[in-house]
Amino acid sequence: MELIDPFGRTVRDLRISITDRCNFRCTYCMPEEGMAWLDRKEILSFEEIHRLAQICVERFDVDSLRLTGGEPTVRAHLPVLVEKLAKLRVPKTANSPLAGKNIDLAMTTNGATLRLIADELRSAGLSRINISLDTLQQEKFLKITRRDHLSNVLDGIDAAVHAGFAPVKVNAVIQRGVNDDEIVALANFGREKQIEIRFIEFMPLDAQGQWQRNDVVGQDEIVATINGVYPLEQVASRGAAPADRWRYLDGGGTVGVIPSVTKPFCGDCDRVRLTAEGQFRTCLFSTTEFDLREMLRGGATDDALAAEIKRAVGTKWAGHAIGNVTFVRPKRSMSQIGG
Ligand code: 5AD
Ligand code: SF4
Repeated sequence: MELIDPFGRTVRDLRISITDRCNFRCTYCMPEEGMAWLDRKEILSFEEIHRLAQICVERFDVDSLRLTGGEPTVRAHLPVLVEKLAKLRVPKTANSPLAGKNIDLAMTTNGATLRLIADELRSAGLSRINISLDTLQQEKFLKITRRDHLSNVLDGIDAAVHAGFAPVKVNAVIQRGVNDDEIVALANFGREKQIEIRFIEFMPLDAQGQWQRNDVVGQDEIVATINGVYPLEQVASRGAAPADRWRYLDGGGTVGVIPSVTKPFCGDCDRVRLTAEGQFRTCLFSTTEFDLREMLRGGATDDALAAEIKRAVGTKWAGHAIGNVTFVRPKRSMSQIGG
């Protein structure tokens, strides 16, 4: 049975945060010091994560899982979890191109340690990988992430390509006055490496609450900037994927822009989220959470968990309305919700 929300959107994608911790301290996500981490026992075990994922896949035809954080690679024994999840199969009866096949398992990472584990993750069954990279300049990288790991991330991107992940995508959050001068350089990096760069509009999810509308560099400006150097044509319809995509007219590949703020894609959203401590959320920006951990640890049956997931999806709202007066900032930052 499919999970359909009150606005007629079908849930296909579950994003699972497997830790709130991170080895970076990106300014748009975390303060330099003083993040309070969850206690180990508060975090869902691999068995608990697997059980919830299995319910979503086998009962509700979810065909895509994405591991996020914090930084998912800081969780010990990550390949063990990947191997367990990669074996989940989409029901034969599902209305999905993957019906009867293994789920699509993806991960978003900052790439700092990827050079060490890319091959292992690939063999464990991870199919797709997104790596965050906001700048190609070492000093600026240090300023944004507060860690001196640019070369490790670049090696991580190469390792991911080498390990056979297809596609490898690189996410770049663009902030006015911080890295908006590198849009063309980042686009060029993608062209040279033959990977898709996806520019992301800066969202109000920083832990310090310093986001301002003026800091956002919108999709139109990003596309015009690239188009001025490398002419582009738009690739048709994005479906439920958040990125709008463009093709380089000279055959240099594709580039994406995720217009979370200027052109919200909530109308096509097929995602739900599970935080590291087992709270189910129907939107990055929702202000309600459904406590699946308490149910799991209180001995709830699969039927009861499935009913709660269904109830949660029944409360999914139409969209986030960043910029409207009605917008309420979520109390958690990206690292605590899961990208
Ligand atoms: N706005 C936009 N993107 C963000 N990310 C983290 N915080 C923000 C924010 N405030 C991105 C990361 C990563 C993904 C998980 O989310 O850069 O690519
Ligand atoms: Fe870590 Fe990602 Fe947050 Fe940066 S944006 S601090 S890499 S969780």
